[in-house]
Amino acid sequence: MKYFEGKHIWIVGASSGLGEGLTHFLSDVDCTLVLSARREEELIRVREANKDKKAKFVIAPLDLAQPERIDQCVAEVEEQIGYIDIMIQSGGISQRDTVLNTSMEVQRQIMEVNYFGAIHLSRAVLPKMVERQSGMHVVVTSAVGIISTPFRSGYSASKHALHGFYDALRAEQHQNNVKVTLLCPGYVHTNISYNALMGDGSQQQKLDNAQANGLSVEQFCEIATKAIAAEKEEVYIGGFKEVMGIYVKRFFPGLFSRIVRKIAVT
Ligand SMILES: NC(=O)c1ccc[n+]([C@@H]2O[C@H](COP(=O)([O-])OP(=O)(O)OC[C@H]3O[C@@H](n4cnc5c(N)ncnc54)[C@H](OP(=O)(O)O)[C@@H]3O)[C@@H](O)[C@H]2O)c1
Repeated sequence: MKYFEGKHIWIVGASSGLGEGLTHFLSDVDCTLVLSARREEELIRVREANKDKKAKFVIAPLDLAQPERIDQCVAEVEEQIGYIDIMIQSGGISQRDTVLNTSMEVQRQIMEVNYFGAIHLSRAVLPKMVERQSGMHVVVTSAVGIISTPFRSGYSASKHALHGFYDALRAEQHQNNVKVTLLCPGYVHTNISYNALMGDGSQQQKLDNAQANGLSVEQFCEIATKAIAAEKEEVYIGGFKEVMGIYVKRFFPGLFSRIVRKIAVT
């Protein structure tokens, strides 16, 4: 945990799930944590739960689908604490419907939040990182940022897009000492399946079996923080099946294509 000491760390998605878990985890370190998501009251709840620990907090509510607010928020945060060392992107929404059933509006909404919101924020904090010749972007993508499964067409596309963007950013910024770590979880037990969008834009409002049987948030945080501190480029964090799926797709794509038609993804 020494790696995080004294650092300014911005966690988007800090009101729930993986982002909240990382906030609890990093609160034990003497660092500054900027907490973002849409629901300010939930960010305050997370801050209050950790108020007797070592970290200092800044609450910065934002909606990843509102680019103007992202710019305003970056200006406010930089005014308050100067710069960001580690930008952790854990905000996002999932999907639980077929291509045929999912409206184009929902496809765009998923892309707006998961992809454009994340890259907008990363791009906005980048100039200060370049100026300081130091910084890191940590992005929670997904195993479906590498493979793709039924009922996740838009979600999977948004996560694949993140890999394309951040792999380019990593290469461009190597000489400026700005790093990129892509965290690719399989199933982790959070609210993601409750909040996942159906084709008409309503929320699924149900805990999937796959999620319920997934890793705990604490297990995810243990592995994720070690990977960040080791400055790994890409890490797979999940159960045997999800991680194997990535390797089967890479080395036996025809076999993967046959398996994925039949797997249970809810
Ligand atoms: N759990 C898994 O199995 C799993 C697997 C692979 C990848 N992931 C990825 O991990 C990330 C975190 O998901 P989670 O599992 O922690 O789910 P979660 O419990 O539903 O948390 C999602 C977080 O994203 C925030 N968020 C959603 N829409 C937003 C928006 N428009 N603007 C700003 N923040 C927004 C939510 O906060 P507000 O509602 O307050 O805005 C919440 O803090 C997501 O990117 C997800 O795709 C999760």
